Parts: sequence; C-alpha cells; structure tokens
Amino acid sequence: MSGTTQLVELEVIGDHRGSLVSLEKGAKLPFDIKRVYYIFGTLPNVSRGFHAHKKLRQLAVCVSGKCRMLMDNGQSKEEVWLDSPKKGVFINNLIWREMHDFSEDCVLVVFASHEYDESDYIRNYEDFKNIVDKNSVLSRTS
Ligand code: TYD
Repeated sequence: MSGTTQLVELEVIGDHRGSLVSLEKGAKLPFDIKRVYYIFGTLPNVSRGFHAHKKLRQLAVCVSGKCRMLMDNGQSKEEVWLDSPKKGVFINNLIWREMHDFSEDCVLVVFASHEYDESDYIRNYEDFKNIVDKNSVLSRTS
C-alpha cells in the first residue's frame, strides 16, 4: 500500500422519503463485523485515537457532523475529513490514527473486525514505528 487512506464511497439508497445506507461484508467492507462502537459528545479541542492496532481493521463513518482523521503507515501521513454519512474510511491494521476537530454534532461510527482487546493496541508511537520498520525489512528480505 503506497498511501494510507482508503476512502470508501458508500452507496445511498434514496427515495422520496430520504436516504439509507446499508453496510454488509463485501468489497467495501472486507471483514466480518465483530463489534460496532460510536464516539459522540466529544468536547471542544479534544483529539482522540493516537494508537494503531496489530490486527484490527476498521471502517469509520461520521454519520453526523464531521472530524478530521489523520492516518500514518509509518512512512507517510494522510488526512481526510469525514464529513458525510456517504463517506467511509477503511483503516487497515498497523495504521496510526488520530482524530481531531470534532464538530459538536459529530457521531463517529466504527465497524470493527474484532472484539475489543487492549493487547491489540499499540499506544506508543515509537513502538509503532519499530514494528512497521521491522515488518518492512522482513518483507523486503523474504
Ligand atoms: P480508545 O480506543 O483508546 O479511544 P480513542 O481511540 O477513541 O481515543 O478507547 C477509550 C476507552 O474505551 C479505553 O479505556 C478502552 C475502552 N473501549 C472499550 O472498552 N471497548 C471498545 O470497543 C473501545 C473502542 C474502547
């Protein structure tokens, strides 16, 4: 993967009553959903995230409001505004993420490939860098 951001355009099923988005396992959501959580009521000037996961993969969608998501694969960083319920971002494992600039009405829904497991978190940036650097050496030599 050259970049870090994998934006997913979500299909909207709309009719005269409004809009509906349905998510199920497939090309846009390439894993079985084992957990869903949502972040809301984030206080002003609060940022969240600041971690990566060893194996967890996630799809994040702001179903209301917006926030700015930074993603870093250890070599390059990219930012994306999650500002529409039609826009998702797929976050692979071993991606450092930070969420900033939450709007007051932001509801960030996250679909996750695994149950919550604190031992899957990498919460220290130096540890994250060491792991991705080691992985890239291994993949170059194998
Ligand atoms: P954390 O993932 O650190 O939040 P963020 O990345 O958005 O800043 O989670 C915050 C706290 O909530 C932490 O103590 C772990 C707990 N938590 C759960 O118990 N279950 C979950 O599914 C999640 C995502 C977090």
